[in-house]
Amino acid sequence: MSEIAIRVAHPDSPLTEEAIGRLVDAFYAKVRNDPQLGPVFDAAIADWAPHLETMRRFWSSVMLTSGKYKGNPVAAHRRVSGIEMQMFARWLALFEETCAEMFDAAIAAEFGIKARRIAESLQLALFYRPDRPWPPQGH
Ligand code: HEM
Repeated sequence: MSEIAIRVAHPDSPLTEEAIGRLVDAFYAKVRNDPQLGPVFDAAIADWAPHLETMRRFWSSVMLTSGKYKGNPVAAHRRVSGIEMQMFARWLALFEETCAEMFDAAIAAEFGIKARRIAESLQLALFYRPDRPWPPQGH
């Protein structure tokens, strides 16, 4: 691969609000095109502009501790019809892939660590049952 191709694939964006905006746009473009995730998101989200804005604030709060996001992700995901445990692996794979395309390895890894922690806590909130093994068999 030529050096130019590598630079296009890994632009090494600094971690700014603007770069977070581009990450969010690129990630949700992939989500909407994904056969497993796309239909669930499109059924739940009538107007994408406010969702993308919320997600910019969310990642800005998580990665830059900006305090811009105020919300309740668990309550929001409880309302998502058709959400399933196994969708989280796909969500994380697409998210980490997009981070790796935009940021250097250290920043991409930091996004991945945060995303995995939040995904784990969402999965526990949505799917954990005290009378069943965790993680559920097959996951
Ligand atoms: C199976 C995986 C997932 C699906 C299908 C999913 C789907 C959705 C949908 C449809 C919404 C919009 C809800 C609404 O506005 O009514 C939403 C909101 C949101 N999601 Fe997810 N999500 C997933 C995983 C995640 C993960 C892993 C994170 C964080 C790392 C995350 C963070 C958020 C946040 C912060 C919101 C905004 C909540 C609010 O309104 O304040 N989601 N998600």
